[in-house]
Amino acid sequence: MYKHDIGNWFGAGAAEKQDFSRLLDKSAAILKRFAEGAEPKVTALFDVAAREDDLEAIRKEAQEIRQNFRNIVVLGTGGSSLSGQALAAIKGNNNAAEINLCFADNIDPHSFSAMLAGIDIERSFFLTISKSGDTLETIAQFLICFDYVAKAVGREKAARHFLIITMPKESSMAALGEQYGIRQLAHETEIGGRFSIFTNVGLLPGAIIGLDIRGLRKGAVRIIRDISRNPAESEVAKGMAVNLAMMAQGFCNSVYMHYLDRLRGFVNWHRQIWAESLGKNGNGTTPIRAAGTLDQHSQLQLYLGGPKDKFFTFLFLGKPENGNPAINPELINRQELEYLKGKSLGEIMLAEQRATLETLVRHGAPVRSFALDNLQEETMGALFMHFMLETIGVGIALGINPFDQPAVEESKVIARKLLGEK
Ligand code: PA5
Repeated sequence: MYKHDIGNWFGAGAAEKQDFSRLLDKSAAILKRFAEGAEPKVTALFDVAAREDDLEAIRKEAQEIRQNFRNIVVLGTGGSSLSGQALAAIKGNNNAAEINLCFADNIDPHSFSAMLAGIDIERSFFLTISKSGDTLETIAQFLICFDYVAKAVGREKAARHFLIITMPKESSMAALGEQYGIRQLAHETEIGGRFSIFTNVGLLPGAIIGLDIRGLRKGAVRIIRDISRNPAESEVAKGMAVNLAMMAQGFCNSVYMHYLDRLRGFVNWHRQIWAESLGKNGNGTTPIRAAGTLDQHSQLQLYLGGPKDKFFTFLFLGKPENGNPAINPELINRQELEYLKGKSLGEIMLAEQRATLETLVRHGAPVRSFALDNLQEETMGALFMHFMLETIGVGIALGINPFDQPAVEESKVIARKLLGEK
């Protein structure tokens, strides 16, 4: 599925640098506890990934939406949106369902109005996701969209354009849904918003655009099996140890350099789970998203010549996919361009990625890499589970709670007060 190479930095001589093997043992011990069911929130993640009984219902829901609507707008923010976005992105433009799935994850008045103005409301569906049911932005988005739809199709008919995913408990969103007769699906109570990719939060948008949702979960289960069978040898343990070593050595920035546009959503998703889970009590590293080859012409100079405070994770395809465009040799009759004759964009991308990685290594930067076999659902499911466990595991190793986000609550309270909440 993928090859995780932790490079030279953590290879020979790493033990002297930062007692790497001790960190590996510590990571494996944490993963062993996960596998034994000692961490209830991780067990909930494992249980949902292993479920098969709910897949048919998710698929049916998706099919019904697809049959009746052309534009699907997902309302919600943070973990309630980024999972769906990450899954939708791996399809690229190859949307077999021929529907327009978009994620309204902000409340910028200009882009929100433009989004509404740009869709045929009669053929639009609003999937509203909020675990807590109390997020100000999502409530505002929902109320504006409901009003917009009700004005277009009438209040009675508006409800069929909406579906709400929220926890089955008292909340503003649940109450609004009830008031306006909107169907509601339960958000898993035990699974936090940012870790909800294998629940209906991620899988329903995924199924709407035709992803194999069983395959996604199957990939996740493979990672769970790996850590259950042999935590010390697992890639997650290596990943945890690498990150812990980097933090201990004072590397405060973690650059995720992806050489696949279809991983843009994945890296945004990871950036959130990492930052929100680990940025506590002075801990954490700042996740930075960089796209290859694009950012070689933007950030690379800084990465090579700037402060030595960055740790790099490369994500790319191990070998180019079939059918990618190639340069017609007949167009080339200049000596200095001979080397490009017949080369595909995939080959050029791979060479650029290898060259950048090698240059970083030569400059003494710590680099690890994930060479993916493909971007199929099983591979991606494994990758999502790998990075969730890496994040949660690092949090536990640092002695912090990776499941909450207390600091952001403060600004939510102030925002509501500024708007007049008593
Ligand atoms: O991961 C998290 O917990 C957060 O990013 C939430 O997803 C985000 O704040 C939205 O919360 P909710 O789903 O309750 O509306």
